[in-house]
Amino acid sequence: MSSFQEIFGMSPVAVGRAPGRVNLLGDHTDYNDGYVLPIAIDQHTLVSMRPNNKHEYVLHADALDVTVRFTLDHPPSEHFATYVYGCLVEARAAGVKTSVLDIHVCSSVPIGVGLSSSAALEVATLRALRSLTGVQLDDVLIARLAQLAEVKHAGVRCGIMDQMASSLADTRNALFLDTRTLERRLIPLPPVSAVLVLDSGVPRSLADSGYNRRRAECEEAARRLGVTALRDIHDSSASRALPEPLQRRVRHVVSENDRVRRAAACKNAEEFGELMNASHASLRDDYEVSIPQLDYLVALLQANPHVYGARLTGAGFGGACVALCEPSRLKDVAAAVLYSYNDAGHPGGSVLVPFTKGSANPA
Ligand code: GLA
Repeated sequence: MSSFQEIFGMSPVAVGRAPGRVNLLGDHTDYNDGYVLPIAIDQHTLVSMRPNNKHEYVLHADALDVTVRFTLDHPPSEHFATYVYGCLVEARAAGVKTSVLDIHVCSSVPIGVGLSSSAALEVATLRALRSLTGVQLDDVLIARLAQLAEVKHAGVRCGIMDQMASSLADTRNALFLDTRTLERRLIPLPPVSAVLVLDSGVPRSLADSGYNRRRAECEEAARRLGVTALRDIHDSSASRALPEPLQRRVRHVVSENDRVRRAAACKNAEEFGELMNASHASLRDDYEVSIPQLDYLVALLQANPHVYGARLTGAGFGGACVALCEPSRLKDVAAAVLYSYNDAGHPGGSVLVPFTKGSANPA
């Protein structure tokens, strides 16, 4: 791993740090103005910067061992750099003026598995800019600017969950968030429970196209039902007049919003786990964003006596799943489940949370 000092020969003058997140419940609800329940993870991204007296920004990404040069007049062609570029452009539009910078990024958030490495990069960049300039950007504004960077500059029509989680969540409490009003509350995990995240080892293919298609279907369903967003539908029988697959999409969003609200009020790990299991079934059958390997991994977790519940997490189409487990059995559960997963002919698969430094494919 390289440091800012090693790459640029000087110390940085500002540093921003932000975590990845895992979503416990409430997937594909945020762009429907609904409810989500993410929690921050220990893996985080560190962005260091210093004015460089040059004409170009110089951005070094440790994970890729790549240096990119750009100005704010043209987006860089390297995809990862568009997240940083987007943050610089949106921050400038919000009144954060800086001179041209040297920027160094390093991260332990795994890329492309559904743990929000992009939101961590955006929020860490904006936090570093806040520290550099002293401009008062509150944490919600940082999340909004980060989302704008992703939507307008990285070309992903995401909701606001990931950026709000990276900016406002912590690793001990889940963030119960109403994505329409941004009202939120920190919720402790149910007593005697802990989070386990396993990667299926299957890259998230189709994630962008499938995600955008689901989003368009929801917008179409909301339009036909005469509401601003599917969050405004409380009874999925209202969708009976719609053609398939719109009916099923509506059923997922309505039932998922209901599960998130119930989980936020629930003090019991078994009950919370059942809501996670139901969420997986809904994401698999009604929203159709699972894949066979994730279904298998989730089924192994659900069958384990020390697991309260499990589901795919994030956008789906590959990547990771999350389980709520007995804290004292996390290691045993992970080992037993991954053994059976590999034994059934699925290569790959690894433990992402709990995080042991140096283990899970540091980005
Ligand atoms: C991605 C998006 C989020 C959210 C999830 C699915 O992580 O960035 O905004 O829509 O998918 O819940």
